[in-house]
Amino acid sequence: MGISIGLVGLGQFGSAFAPLFKAHPLVDRIALCDREADRIRRFADDPFYADKLALKDIYLSLDDICRADLDALVIITQPWLHAPQCIQAMQAGKHVYSAVPISCVPDGDEILEWCEKIIETCTHTGQHYMLGETTYYRPEAQFCRRQAAAGKFGDFVYAEGEYLHDVDAGCNLRQVSYQRSLGQAGQEWRQTAASKYRDQGILGGPMHYPTHSTSGPVCVMGAHAVEVTAYGWRNRTQDPHFAADAFSNEFAFFRMSNGATVRIAETREAAGILGGDSETFRIMGTLGTFSENRWFEARRPDLDHLDYANLPKPSSRSVDRAEMFEPFPPEVTAAFKRAVYRDLSEEEFQTRDFTPGGHGGSHPYLVHEFCSAVAERRTPAINAWEAARYMVMGVMAHKSALRDGETLACPDWGDAP
Ligand SMILES: NC(=O)c1ccc[n+]([C@@H]2O[C@H](COP(=O)([O-])OP(=O)(O)OC[C@H]3O[C@@H](n4cnc5c(N)ncnc54)[C@H](O)[C@@H]3O)[C@@H](O)[C@H]2O)c1
Repeated sequence: MGISIGLVGLGQFGSAFAPLFKAHPLVDRIALCDREADRIRRFADDPFYADKLALKDIYLSLDDICRADLDALVIITQPWLHAPQCIQAMQAGKHVYSAVPISCVPDGDEILEWCEKIIETCTHTGQHYMLGETTYYRPEAQFCRRQAAAGKFGDFVYAEGEYLHDVDAGCNLRQVSYQRSLGQAGQEWRQTAASKYRDQGILGGPMHYPTHSTSGPVCVMGAHAVEVTAYGWRNRTQDPHFAADAFSNEFAFFRMSNGATVRIAETREAAGILGGDSETFRIMGTLGTFSENRWFEARRPDLDHLDYANLPKPSSRSVDRAEMFEPFPPEVTAAFKRAVYRDLSEEEFQTRDFTPGGHGGSHPYLVHEFCSAVAERRTPAINAWEAARYMVMGVMAHKSALRDGETLACPDWGDAP
């Protein structure tokens, strides 16, 4: 028998995941939940969902779907709601998948408290938590984790992670914020955001949404931050988009537990990007380096018998996406292909190979990992302990920036048991 999964939050991002969760071969039954009935209706009326979705499995409140006999909930609601909702779901006996970040509120201490509470709730309930961090399953990260596992980096020396998303870029953050402020949950937040935080002088910043930039270096190196020094850039134009933030751009330097140094950049008010992508990382090791889809190798001479006429030469090569991606089991590829290309004619469908899509191709990998972990009753790859490490870097960087670069120690809850 397969598993049953409830999808909570069918807004912009949740809608992109619904077909993949529905299609996964391990999933027998899905349920849908959103406080806004119209956001569910388009799925309930779509024949694609009919074989796994019953009318009784449509819910308008989290309390109601938590009472349903489902194995797991996928929570893709607004970012300030994730943590309490995930805890409620685990306490109701559900495994949970959360959209990133663990929590995004202006108060960094509150974010750290939520990280701790989520870890405690996993421990006490025995339910599993997975953070849906897209960078973790970007092809670059898949490739680099394999290189790291094979020891090809040597010792890690330095890494850079960045999420460079100008407010007025293609995916316009003003529109995203406006969209999230609509509906009942959005209206309620307007009140809270002002009275609980802004009016009390508690201001956030881009480092409170840090998982796209921090997860790459952390998941490849298997290391966590020990201390940080960070600086912020304050908006100078009284742009209302940044009214709840102390900074519109933040930059941080970390000492990591493996002795490496990491630089993280989070920009929301800076034109363009630096390298080939807006959400990316680069990692240097003593033997191997990954940067801009290239793999570099240093060849070391035998130090006891140096032959100056024949010193080894370094090499480098570009790595294409096909090589970086790990393969899915064939039945999973077939199911995802049906879900993603369901609008194509059968003739066109047969000519197409399945190409993983969504944030660098990460979406189907996130879905496959969560469904597999629930079915196999195992801890997911991006578990609460791993996810907390991504968050801690952002929260402590913001605190350091608020203190004009004071070096601060970073807390850590250890590895997943
Ligand atoms: N690369 C990435 O990982 C990435 C990209 C985009 C968005 N996201 C994350 O996805 C999340 C959702 O973003 P979005 O743009 O889809 O937001 P959205 O506002 O469009 O959708 C959120 C939905 O959740 C629903 N909701 C809120 N509270 C609820 C409750 N108690 N019960 C049921 N439904 C509830 C809302 O009604 C809304 O439909 C955000 O937290 C964001 O951080 C991640």
